[in-house]
Amino acid sequence: MAPDGTANGARRVYVTTPLYYVNAEPHLGSAYTSLICDTIARFYRQRGYDTYFLTGTDEHGDKIAEAAAAAGEAPKAYTDRISGIFRSTWEASGLTYDRFIRTTDADHVRTVQEILQRVYDAGDIYFGSYGGLYCTGCERFYTEKELVDGKCPDHKTVPDFIEEENYFFRMGKYQERLLAAIEAKPALIRPERYRNEVLAMLREPLEDLCISRPKSRLTWGIAMPFDARFVTYVWFDALINYVTAVRELGPERFRELWPAAQHFIAKDILKPHAVYWPTMLMAAGLPLYDHLNVHGYWTVDGQKMSKSLGNVVRPLDMQAKYGRDAFRYVLLRESVFGLDADFREDALVTRINADLANNLGNLVSRTLSMQQKYFAGVVQPLGERRPEDVALAAAFADAGREVETQVADLMLSRALEAILRAADHANKYIVETAPFTLAKDPATVPRVGAILHNLLEALRATAQLAAPFIPETAERIVALLDLPADALRLPGAVWGAAFPAGHAVRKPVPLFPRIEP
Ligand code: MSP
Repeated sequence: MAPDGTANGARRVYVTTPLYYVNAEPHLGSAYTSLICDTIARFYRQRGYDTYFLTGTDEHGDKIAEAAAAAGEAPKAYTDRISGIFRSTWEASGLTYDRFIRTTDADHVRTVQEILQRVYDAGDIYFGSYGGLYCTGCERFYTEKELVDGKCPDHKTVPDFIEEENYFFRMGKYQERLLAAIEAKPALIRPERYRNEVLAMLREPLEDLCISRPKSRLTWGIAMPFDARFVTYVWFDALINYVTAVRELGPERFRELWPAAQHFIAKDILKPHAVYWPTMLMAAGLPLYDHLNVHGYWTVDGQKMSKSLGNVVRPLDMQAKYGRDAFRYVLLRESVFGLDADFREDALVTRINADLANNLGNLVSRTLSMQQKYFAGVVQPLGERRPEDVALAAAFADAGREVETQVADLMLSRALEAILRAADHANKYIVETAPFTLAKDPATVPRVGAILHNLLEALRATAQLAAPFIPETAERIVALLDLPADALRLPGAVWGAAFPAGHAVRKPVPLFPRIEP
């Protein structure tokens, strides 16, 4: 892997979320993946990378047809409605995606059919008969071995035995090539535990994949281009969205962006992304994605989130209650990428109070109120630097370096820890330099001006480092400093050069009021 964590150091990144099924509304889980992707996209955009960010909805297949029927709606009307809810939720959450794709979009249908035809013409799709154990929830066949006590490990339901004639993709043919690709590039699938899981899957013979459904059983899908009696299996359809979106930008953009693709998923859909998808790409003659980034699962108060338990956490509710950045901060801070995490509202409140209200919020309000009180907001000369000033600047430089390496490794919680550690250093700097005491003696007032100038630089640096994670807060800090919005771009001004002589900053407003538990 290149040190910046992207393909061949090509300063380009194409970030994707899974396409969420429209049989449920957005919840904590889908919000989490989307927020991670948004953070990664903002991070690379801030560094001047050519960045493309894709999200959307997965709308075909049995599961969706059933959900539409249960809602008493036609599939098209139903999927329009739920897809619209996803889109408006992500918009209200401030996600900066470039396209919201739907698997029912005309360009996607066309791309799926073209790829099917290409793979068919190359001889990697054949017609045959298959009987097997089928889980409607997962929309796939299971082998006996994969079942737990005869049940689907995910849905805990007994799969149906289904026998029918269908089209098959010669997935097995690509087993060795896939293994070689994973071995040649250790970070292709990360973190390592999921790479190991995939390698374990590939120790068993890889079977061919059934990629059609007869229209007698399912009509809600993309027609097979070479046989109108069949529709395409929902996974063969949905995975191709990642190619559709950038192919639509033209051949040159496709060549640039596609190899920089970084898919973000949770562990539940590892096999389709780590086995089906790369072998499909090989059969279609396309390069593999750059990274498959796999995160863990959120539980709520230690339990699986579900409608029947009534514990579904809705992103819009949380954002209305605590604020967009606070919710976002907590999700990113309270999870280690790759591991499971547990959501608890009391822990959320503790985290917001400790990190955002006490640490970051206090730093902003103390600095700006002293700047008002002693200098009517006008920034004073930096003066000669003392060791404690140098140490403060160094704390932010260290945090900056740590953020780069942690984000390249997807350790977003560690990156946030580093930023908050630097903010904490700045709070301690206030205590140690005691500007409120120095301000009492006219002889030391110039030093007070210098201390506050250093603190304003600390605020600017904090905003800049935190911008991908808590973007609204970063913008509010920059507005309070009365700096232009591009002060958030990287690389930023050197310490001491951001505030021109005579520049005035604004009066403080509380960024994160303390929440009473
Ligand atoms: N439609 C397929 C994906 C097709 S991608 C070409 C699908 N959809 S889904 O709606 O079930 O979304 C699954 C994804 O939602 C997970 O991989 C993860 O990104 C997110 N999550 C859903 N529940 C989650 C948790 N409880 N915790 C963490 N992420 C979760 O699978």
